[in-house]
Amino acid sequence: MCGIIGYIGSRQAQSILLNSLSRLEYRGYDSCGIAVCGSGIGVYKDAVRVEMLQKVSPPLDGSVGIGHTRWATHGEPSPMNAHPHCDCNSKIAVVHNGIISNYQRLRQQLTSEGHNLVSETDSEVIPHLIEKYYEGNLEKAVEAALDEVEGSYAVVVLMVGEPKLVAAKKDAPLIIGVGDGENFIASDVPAILDYTNRVIYLEDGDIGVITKDGVTILGNKTGVDRKEHTVLWSSQDVQKAGYEHFMLKEIHEQPRVIRDTLGEYMLSTDPGVERGPILDDSVEDLLILACGTSYHAGLIGKYVIEELLGIPVRVELASEFNHRDRTIASMMAIAITQSGETADVLIPMKKLRQAQTRTLVITNVPGSTATRIANQTVYTKAGPEVGVAATKTFVAQLVALYELALSYPGVNPRIREHLIAELRQLPAKVQQVLDNTHQIENCARYLSRYDNVFFIGRGINFPIALEGALKLKEISYIHAEGYAAGELKHGPFALLDRDTPVIAIVAHDNTYGVMLTNIKEVKARKSPVIAVADDVDEVIGELVDLVIRVPRVGSIFSPVVNTVALQLLAYHTARHRGCSIDFPRNLAKSVTVE
Ligand code: AGP
Repeated sequence: MCGIIGYIGSRQAQSILLNSLSRLEYRGYDSCGIAVCGSGIGVYKDAVRVEMLQKVSPPLDGSVGIGHTRWATHGEPSPMNAHPHCDCNSKIAVVHNGIISNYQRLRQQLTSEGHNLVSETDSEVIPHLIEKYYEGNLEKAVEAALDEVEGSYAVVVLMVGEPKLVAAKKDAPLIIGVGDGENFIASDVPAILDYTNRVIYLEDGDIGVITKDGVTILGNKTGVDRKEHTVLWSSQDVQKAGYEHFMLKEIHEQPRVIRDTLGEYMLSTDPGVERGPILDDSVEDLLILACGTSYHAGLIGKYVIEELLGIPVRVELASEFNHRDRTIASMMAIAITQSGETADVLIPMKKLRQAQTRTLVITNVPGSTATRIANQTVYTKAGPEVGVAATKTFVAQLVALYELALSYPGVNPRIREHLIAELRQLPAKVQQVLDNTHQIENCARYLSRYDNVFFIGRGINFPIALEGALKLKEISYIHAEGYAAGELKHGPFALLDRDTPVIAIVAHDNTYGVMLTNIKEVKARKSPVIAVADDVDEVIGELVDLVIRVPRVGSIFSPVVNTVALQLLAYHTARHRGCSIDFPRNLAKSVTVE
């Protein structure tokens, strides 16, 4: 969480820092601030969004500076707790992302030595430690300060009289953006896309020093070479392109995302286009680890892989797996994480790597930390996702899982051929859902009046009920729960009444008959029912209050069309309720703390 930017060059730093912060807000947005170095350090920070800071911050003169957008961990969002933090003499300014676990002891020690710390944050100890250790060399002082620190950090340091920025990282992401006569340091690529697409990914333990004309990286106290990469994302990818919200734009990008993620191998009908298997036939069991929406993708992956490959798959919440002592021997582990930076996922990945378990990551972010831990990476091609609610990256994860399963050598070739043909139709089917917005908007208007909602599904669409509920609660603040349809009668029935709508995902598969029975049971308790059903189903309209129609697709692909409909339902419901759709309260897109 938290977004960091640093700039050094010939231009005025302030507007560059603020623009970059606006591109980083998905990492946290409860307060923000900048520090610019001219003759002294000018700091402006407040518990406001970046847009407001752009309007109200006074001009700060200088062509070197740092900025931060915060997701609070230690201390409430307030001007005092916002970053940058300074030393006693306001000569050193620091932005930090991460958690310093021994900050209380450091704070006591610094206070007893005469330092005056004014915020409630863990981060504020860093500028004071640097002040303590500074003897004319900023890099050395940063290194000495961080030697005292336990926990995780990405930091950028600015000091009066030092024409450079010094950065360091441990278990939190940091990149250097390489420009012409100017350089950048940032938490993430979108922050710098308006200025450059040349990137160096810092590794844990690196100290990066950037000046106007150069980049030096010190690792383990000596210089190291880190490769420069050219990123393919562009600054247009992180703009709304005429849509009211990023979430809506990202939902509408999904036909393109499916095509790009499938790539040449799946889309080409040319038999000469071959691709080696992602999984080879030595794999006998699989462990999938993920959080939130990515976990729901993992649950669907289990259905697909077990059905097509006959391999047992266990799906675990990565945040729970972390705290188990027992190391689970598995032939292979798949981590699913769109950001590639989720701490709850990275920690078990590292443990599994140490235990020699083969790890594969499915991620959307090239160069992310997860790609550097895993033995193997499968990239989804969703492009940057800015809205905090995961939409296009979820669908891309499903496509990657289909592809992974279909590339397994043991899959019956006739079934494979048939499913690949269906996969190729999926972008057009998703487009049909997107063209059906009017019906979904009606349902959203209806739903927006309620405070509690259940989502029910069965089989491969049970995870879609979980995902539908997560999407709705996350952006509309309506209390929503996802349930396996058969489980409602084992307790939640007690909550059903005319004020508690139920959204039923009705798939045309072996769960169809029993799902209709479950809907009748719900109706008998007077709950309004909205069904998501395919456009061939002639029965469902008689049983429920409202229907959202989706095109009929093969049962393993039904989660894709159903989820797109539920994304739109959540989006329009949140819009009716006037919620902050792209930046819901208390959340952040990249969850880099445990
Ligand atoms: C979903 O809309 C959320 N933003 C959240 O649940 C997210 O999926 C989760 O934090 C995992 O993120 P990751 O895929 O980047 O690991």
